[in-house]
Amino acid sequence: MIGIFDSGYGGLTVMKEVVARLPDYDYLYLGDNARTPYGNRSSETVTQFADEAVRFLFEQGAQLILFACFTASALALPTLQKRFLLDPASPYKDRKILGVLRPLAEYAAQNSGSGRIGVVGTRGTVNSGAFERELNEKKSGLTITRKACPLLVPLIEEQWHTKPEARMILKKYLRTVKEHNVDSLILGCTHYPVMMEDFHRIMGSKTQVINSGAVVAERLEDYLARHPEIESRLSRGKKQRFMTTDCPQRFGEFVKVFGGLEQGSVEQVQL
Ligand code: DGL
Repeated sequence: MIGIFDSGYGGLTVMKEVVARLPDYDYLYLGDNARTPYGNRSSETVTQFADEAVRFLFEQGAQLILFACFTASALALPTLQKRFLLDPASPYKDRKILGVLRPLAEYAAQNSGSGRIGVVGTRGTVNSGAFERELNEKKSGLTITRKACPLLVPLIEEQWHTKPEARMILKKYLRTVKEHNVDSLILGCTHYPVMMEDFHRIMGSKTQVINSGAVVAERLEDYLARHPEIESRLSRGKKQRFMTTDCPQRFGEFVKVFGGLEQGSVEQVQL
């Protein structure tokens, strides 16, 4: 089974694309809704929360965990990969934990003609500099313009994102990114694809707004093709289960809003 971890609902936008591309596998989605948002928290706190989520998903039988959460991928992933996969004493060293930053950085570096790339995300993701590190590793000479957009997550969760106020805020956030004439914009937060059309409209036709979930799904398929030792251990029963650390009813409503996924069972769990 593939475990998908997010701080809350947002990772459903990633899961939707992954399931569409790889429909045969079993999935277990874990949303840490009781402690969301992660976006403004310190890396120590995010790492501690994500550590508990990883342990939980491995105990549930996940052979591969995808961090759908950009903040957790930026702040906690390298530490947890070391802790769980590289420590010879770890009982999970034959499993895998993947994140969302690397596939997007790879895609943007390959596809940007001018080398001017924009990155938007939570404060934690943007301030960590993790995207810059990944992008610069992939290609030298890039000009990266970043902007934290901390108001977007609450607006989207309150379903205010279609209101003019939300569009105005987005326009303000994107002003500097636009001024830098980026030809590619990485939506570095699980929630932002919900406002995809607004991103497109504001950035204009010269900028490719990258659909994060679709890129992550495509790269995951490629990863599995290159790693049969992991792929062969993934169960293929087309089952989707959802777990949340908070209210399952509310989570169930969001499964449809965010993911357009068929709603499987939603269970409340403690990490
Ligand atoms: N899932 C988070 C991310 O992609 C956004 C929500 C949060 O701040 O927890 O960065």
